[in-house]
Amino acid sequence: MSLRFHRALAAALLVAGLAACGGGGDESAGAAVFDNNCVQCHGAGGRASLGPELMTVLARYGWTGADDGTLEVALAEVRTVVLEGLRASGRAPMPAFEGRLSEAELDALMDHLVAIQTTAG
Ligand code: HEC
Repeated sequence: MSLRFHRALAAALLVAGLAACGGGGDESAGAAVFDNNCVQCHGAGGRASLGPELMTVLARYGWTGADDGTLEVALAEVRTVVLEGLRASGRAPMPAFEGRLSEAELDALMDHLVAIQTTAG
């Protein structure tokens, strides 16, 4: 088994595990939250538009692809970005969603982001 396949499998199992034990949210509800709030800037499936692609965002925030605690850390940081927004100089700003999404919507959205990741680190 190649390392690449192995990592993809590990990620798939992890995602399945998260979905099964519930990362706290409802992934299909998260897809709707994404389509209503994020897709206009991040593209269908997170494939980039005005905003950066989100299909590898959890790796950018430190997820190694393993079940080693780095996923939780990456999700916490991404959640903060969504709540507070982001404004790197010279780039279009990411709006803050504080007060615009419920905790349940945020949980579901985070599960959806995990589900659309194409990299496992
Ligand atoms: C009005 C357009 C717009 C909307 C709507 C929007 N974003 Fe963004 N988002 C951006 C832009 C532009 C950036 C890059 C900001 C920067 O780099 O300073 C960004 C950055 C991000 C980042 C950080 C990516 C990275 O690599 O650091 C995350 C995570 C993110 N957005 C998630 C979301 C989610 C989830 C939603 C829906 C709740 C959403 N965004 C809605 C425009 C948007």
